[in-house]
Amino acid sequence: MDSKQIAGEKAVEYVQDGMLVGLGTGSTVYWTIVALAELVKKGLDIKGVPTSKSTETLAEDLGIPLVNLSSVNHLDLTIDGADEVNPKFELIKGGGGALLREKMVASISQRLLIVIDESKYVRHLGAFPLPVEIVPFGWEMTSKQISRLGCNPTLRAKENSPFITDNGNYILDCYFEKIQSPYKLNHTLNMIPGVVENGLFVHMADTIVMGNRSGNVEILNK
Ligand code: A5P
Repeated sequence: MDSKQIAGEKAVEYVQDGMLVGLGTGSTVYWTIVALAELVKKGLDIKGVPTSKSTETLAEDLGIPLVNLSSVNHLDLTIDGADEVNPKFELIKGGGGALLREKMVASISQRLLIVIDESKYVRHLGAFPLPVEIVPFGWEMTSKQISRLGCNPTLRAKENSPFITDNGNYILDCYFEKIQSPYKLNHTLNMIPGVVENGLFVHMADTIVMGNRSGNVEILNK
């Protein structure tokens, strides 16, 4: 079985009746959502809050009851993927472009559970270019400001046009090679006018569910 699938499916064991559950975005948590839908069909009573339009469509199609983020005060659990995870449980997210909604949903979750395959577990963050969501207005100026932090930002494109997020913004993919202090960089980036949010998730993840090539799952708890 695929290591993303193993991790994604394992995560449903953390979901209990009555929970409000944040539903992440991407090809690993896809398997969680599919497995959750099966449990819902068998009677599991949960409500989901999607982190992207694509997850909203998927969950709706599969019959998972959804509620709006604005209608809840907290979530019991959010399950989401990541692009990189380090041993301090710091993350890079946003490879799929959903980082803003993902961070908003994670920020009010009592527990954030991350599902990954073992290739995502790294010693240092930064080999994966850090996604930064920015407003389209004056984006070149924002890009220059970000480049002064030691990276070479690339405007994400889709079919020869800028990639547009669910929130109508652009994404800059910023290759830092090695991020010395994710905590500091997270704050510094978000202080730049024009930056909406960045893909560093610091002090947020509680549990990592990691699938490996031999078909086993490793659970890491903070
Ligand atoms: C979506 O914007 C991302 O944060 C994803 O959670 C992340 O890119 C992991 O995606 P995969 O599970 O598809 O690798």
